[in-house]
Amino acid sequence: MLSKNIETALNKQLRIEAESSQIYLAMASWSETHGLEGISKFMYAQSDEERIHMLKIIKYINERGGHAKVTDLQEPKTNYITFKEMFEEVYKHEVFVSEAINDLVHVSLTEKDYATHNFLQWYVAEQIEEEAQAKVILDKINLIGDDKGGLYLFDRDIQQLTLKNSESSK
Ligand code: FEO
Repeated sequence: MLSKNIETALNKQLRIEAESSQIYLAMASWSETHGLEGISKFMYAQSDEERIHMLKIIKYINERGGHAKVTDLQEPKTNYITFKEMFEEVYKHEVFVSEAINDLVHVSLTEKDYATHNFLQWYVAEQIEEEAQAKVILDKINLIGDDKGGLYLFDRDIQQLTLKNSESSK
């Protein structure tokens, strides 16, 4: 049985994951309307992944005798000036999610809830990957700068990354 504190903290995290999914969905749609198919596909896939993160938490809360609450969400930003700005937001957002997971791990230890602590290890590992990936992409975008040809090649590369990610999550 989950303690009230843990249940509340997990519910907070499930909302963050749901909002992440919406943020990336809005980015996918924006990219799609700005002609870069690879980036758009990557963002749609990221949005799906965040939904999976959310669902895992819902199942866990309910399995442990709590009640996962599905709530309204903060409206995501729907427009960006540049792709660079968008990827800066992705990186910043993943750092924010990592911090939220760290706080959650801390609460699980304070409450001596070792089952939740164990459950959260998957998220700790996932965040290392997501943060690293966002950083690599941002570094590439910074290298490209305003070069349209570079952005075109990047769009092709990121499509490969999307395929690789979907293979490794099977
Ligand atoms: Fe579920 Fe990208 O954090």
